[in-house]
Amino acid sequence: MGLKILIVGSGGREHALVWKIAQSPLVEKIFAAPGNPGIAGSAELVPVPVDETSRIVDFAVKQRVDLTVVGPEAPLAAGITDDLTRRGLLVCGPSKAAAQLEGSKVFTKNILAKYGIPTAEFRVFDSFDDAEQYVLTHRLPVVIKADGLAAGKGVSVAGTYEEAVAFLRDVMEKRVFGPAGERVVVEECLTGEEASYIVFSDGEKFVPLPSSQDHKRIGDGDTGPNTGGMGAYSPAPVLTPEIERKVQREIFEPLLAGMRSEGAPFRGILYGGLMIERGAAKVLEFNVRFGDPEAQPLFMRLASDLVPLLMQCAQGKLTDAVMEIDPRPTVCIVMSSAGYPGPYRKGDPILGIDEAEGLGGVQVFHAGTAIRDGKLVTSGGRVLGVTAVDDDIRKAIARGYRAVEKIRWEGAYYRTDIGKRALQRDEV
Ligand SMILES: Nc1ncnc2c1ncn2[C@@H]1O[C@H](COP(=O)(O)OP(=O)(O)O)[C@@H](O)[C@H]1O
Ligand SMILES: [Mg+2]
Repeated sequence: MGLKILIVGSGGREHALVWKIAQSPLVEKIFAAPGNPGIAGSAELVPVPVDETSRIVDFAVKQRVDLTVVGPEAPLAAGITDDLTRRGLLVCGPSKAAAQLEGSKVFTKNILAKYGIPTAEFRVFDSFDDAEQYVLTHRLPVVIKADGLAAGKGVSVAGTYEEAVAFLRDVMEKRVFGPAGERVVVEECLTGEEASYIVFSDGEKFVPLPSSQDHKRIGDGDTGPNTGGMGAYSPAPVLTPEIERKVQREIFEPLLAGMRSEGAPFRGILYGGLMIERGAAKVLEFNVRFGDPEAQPLFMRLASDLVPLLMQCAQGKLTDAVMEIDPRPTVCIVMSSAGYPGPYRKGDPILGIDEAEGLGGVQVFHAGTAIRDGKLVTSGGRVLGVTAVDDDIRKAIARGYRAVEKIRWEGAYYRTDIGKRALQRDEV
């Protein structure tokens, strides 16, 4: 009998997970809660939103799923892993205690400091007055981070004292992110280039995926407001093999050992957001799940079966098997609704996905899509992740954009410079 797997989430990351898992000969049935129309092609959708974790757990128990894989951070921070484990089920995702690595920036900075892991210099404050006083003496730019989850909006890299104090007031006094703003981290501004490094961990060992890089801002040239991510590519040439070894030795090994001695071993997917400068890497933050959109280009490069890796993380016994990776680079271009990340249009019919995939070497992952009157329409800010593979990064980018040009709806938007940074680096 094959495995029954439940995927929690509804974005492009979850579509990529389902796409990859569906290729495994070990799998008999995939459920997705709540999933999306792209996922519906290979999984049975379970209409339960991700924040209703007790209903998701009940469903998993009733169906006796062999493995649950949690896409987004909120159910992990809420303790879905502990709940599933208590009911005797396997889950690939950290416990509530270990998920604090994403759920609390104060927790993470203290762990990093305690175990001597490189990160920006910082101070923690729980009073607005003390934080303001300190910020006003800090060199500019200064970085302020709300402690808790804030949907990617809880960080300000402030270039002026006015901006810094206004953000501090929003977070700590107006509580625009609710209890996430009870404490803040104030830290030094690092310079360099960012990269993402994502590993599978069973609490002791880890197996890394290749490097990747995302594009957070809405506009070309990294301008305008932050988004959930407008594109990603893999590998990120800034993470040279030498720096990668350092990242493993100086960051991931001591962190996993540290979490064990804290009594909160980390089992699941650990995502390091890194700043790289002059051959050295420092931790900006951790996420406790796959990145979205980084998962899309990464899974397209993963040649091995993903399911044994996910199972072994969940069981706490990763084998030393090396992952097989397609050496060819991949690029994911996110297409979004007009207006995103502000208020955006919804309900516009989407055309051309089959033509885009017909180019070959292209997968179109759904995020904010819905079916209305039998037609595929837009329903979210980030709508599709158009992902392409080719022999080199230049060709992968070109293929990705050829696919994007086949897809249309009223007001479709995308950045035109995804992957450019890797190209520039190739040319020097
Ligand atoms: N110390 C820092 N120096 C410079 N830039 C930073 C620093 N910390 C965060 N940033 C920038 O802010 C972004 C968001 O911060 P991050 O810690 O990743 O929080 P989150 O993803 O939860 O919003 C980072 O991707 C990076 O661009
Ligand atoms: Mg981040």
